[in-house]
Amino acid sequence: MSTLTLSNAWLALQDHQSVMAQQHLHELFTRDPKRFNKFSLKFNDILMDYSKHPICPETISLLLALARQQELEDWIERMFRGEKINNTENHAALHSALRAEHPVVLDGVDIMPDVRRVLTQMEQFSTCVRNGTLKGYSGHPFTDVVNIGIGGSDLGPVMVTEALKPYGSNHIIPHFVSNIDGTHLSTTLRRLNPETTLFIIASKTFSTQETMANARAAREWFLAHGGSKKDISGHFVAVSTNREEVEKFGINSDNMFELWDWVGGRYSLWSAIGLPIALAIGMENFYSLLIGAREMDQHFITTPLEKNLPVMLGLIGIWQINFFGTRSHAVLPYDQSLQRFPAYLQQLEMESNGKSIDRNGNEVDYSTGTVVWGESGTNGQHAFYQLLHQGTQIIPADFLVPCISHNPIGDHHRLLLANFFAQTEAMMRGKSKNEVRAEVEVELSTSSITEEPFKKLLPYKVFPGDRPTTSILFKQLDPKTLGSLIALYEHKVFVQSVIWNVNPFDQWGVELGKQLAGKISDELEQETQITSHDSSTNGLMNYFKANR
Ligand code: F6P
Repeated sequence: MSTLTLSNAWLALQDHQSVMAQQHLHELFTRDPKRFNKFSLKFNDILMDYSKHPICPETISLLLALARQQELEDWIERMFRGEKINNTENHAALHSALRAEHPVVLDGVDIMPDVRRVLTQMEQFSTCVRNGTLKGYSGHPFTDVVNIGIGGSDLGPVMVTEALKPYGSNHIIPHFVSNIDGTHLSTTLRRLNPETTLFIIASKTFSTQETMANARAAREWFLAHGGSKKDISGHFVAVSTNREEVEKFGINSDNMFELWDWVGGRYSLWSAIGLPIALAIGMENFYSLLIGAREMDQHFITTPLEKNLPVMLGLIGIWQINFFGTRSHAVLPYDQSLQRFPAYLQQLEMESNGKSIDRNGNEVDYSTGTVVWGESGTNGQHAFYQLLHQGTQIIPADFLVPCISHNPIGDHHRLLLANFFAQTEAMMRGKSKNEVRAEVEVELSTSSITEEPFKKLLPYKVFPGDRPTTSILFKQLDPKTLGSLIALYEHKVFVQSVIWNVNPFDQWGVELGKQLAGKISDELEQETQITSHDSSTNGLMNYFKANR
């Protein structure tokens, strides 16, 4: 057994779970009309309600005791002061410096002048592209920007540009190519004119297979469609830590936006990786995004744990995963603009905390990261909510909801919000047998139909309820609020990593597949039969060879 699962705080929570598991959420609300006030927090325009979880004041005290036992406050300080808490890669995790205002010292040097230098470079570049002073090789202003990157060099910028479309200009259209599947690049380029297309090659390492293959193919397309070699420097820019490889590719240093090894890929949208965001919505709006994140950083550092949004969001997750045994977590934005938020969170949460070896090199004996998935409302309602309401698994869900829509047509927003309120209430309350029976009796008394068919359907119409949800409401999805929301989840992930004693900033688990793919790619070049793998892999590869 690990020290964590043998600790007093852990054992106390286990005992407490057996008490809380006996009580239906609806009962908790009936007994205490003040639950909402007790279990909701506000930060600027954001309201987070976690009262629809099986918690009581004692649960919170016990979870806070666990957080203190795991020295959460100390870890928060260590992260912000630039300690090398990414111990397996010997790096600091200083994404907060990308949105800081004050000096941040790393290895005795203030890194903020570098951060500001790159922000200024982004500002000058994006302004010139947006106002048309920087032009393509034929003298026409740029109209399209293609970001070629994957994982953290793609998901954040994709999500943010989609979310902040109302702040975008309609003369610069962002496109994103990530997949090694040629369809992604081909279908994107098919619609574009090389004379007015700008490419951003975004890769922290500048060695990622997918990105480099797509970047080379984009360069070939550019040369084959009218661009010349000397025009490449005006149409291709790079975001990377790897100056040497960027230059080898043919992009000169002036067109490179620097990144640093103290920024993790999935935490990098605040850096020059956010260049497509700045190009799409302008630097003023990009700065507002940073301000929103900075304000959440300040809140995270200075607010007592029990009033701290990322801390409470993280601890509620721990309560569900480790004590109620939930295995998956739904993220349900009731905002079409946030449709890519679940995909973004998948990398943030699953690549960060999908770990089974702790910081001391020991295998853990408790669950860590959970499966994150989701879909924007109300589409999800017509797809998978059946399982959320009446399935055999309990799946906690986060609802993200704006009070004001950017597209207020008809009564759409009222209907959307009505659905959100209804779903979280239904998941909490459910509908008992007696309630179904009472409804049936009313129907029977007002019609001539017989009772028999109703009796048969009765069990299907019962909803168990007791399904936990967290609701995060905000005034409107503007750049600042989005910055705060993203930082909220970044810090939530950190809180959970501290409780689980895992390093959320490495990703060794992605290496094996990459390594094998390299070898297999060589084998696929040959026409010979494959015999060097297990029978399944051999069989699959040989079928492919016979049918390609
Ligand atoms: O998927 C593994 C990973 O290393 C991610 O952590 C990272 O965001 C992505 O690949 C892309 O890496 P790079 O920016 O170096 O191309």
